[in-house]
Amino acid sequence: MRASGNRLTREQARVLLARLDSTIAGMRGRASREAMVKFLNTTVPSYSWVGIYAVEGTDLVLDAWSGPSATEHTRIPIGKGVCGFAAKAGKTEIVSDVSKDPRYLQCFLSTKSEIVVPIAKQGAVVGEIDIDGDQLDAFSSLDREFLEAVARKASSVWA
Ligand code: SME
Repeated sequence: MRASGNRLTREQARVLLARLDSTIAGMRGRASREAMVKFLNTTVPSYSWVGIYAVEGTDLVLDAWSGPSATEHTRIPIGKGVCGFAAKAGKTEIVSDVSKDPRYLQCFLSTKSEIVVPIAKQGAVVGEIDIDGDQLDAFSSLDREFLEAVARKASSVWA
């Protein structure tokens, strides 16, 4: 779809959203989230590891993931890490250099940057998309727009 290190273009984002729609057509719940993380990880080269966490009480619990290896952070208290911060604030977080962010909880040695996008339903955060990038500054405002649109799709088929 694009060379590694290049920015997502608006046209690519539009095409990807349409392809994602057909990929998850008829799916709901966890099956839709499994399909989404796989789609994002395999179609966007800079999305090195893609996970969706679900809110369970005061924690985020890893619900679906796609990438080269499993993370030990399968349960993160809301408020902890970049993931917990984004869930608490209900706002997208982009970290362009994880080594400079004291909130960062390390999962993979290869990770250089991260984006976390909350998934909201009727005003409450029910989960989030967490993506690790192996390049510094891998995520632009267009990735944010694109992934916020993906989060709205995830919300619409959440349960
Ligand atoms: N880095 C995250 C933890 C999750 S792993 O990236 C999969 C954080 O700081 O919350």
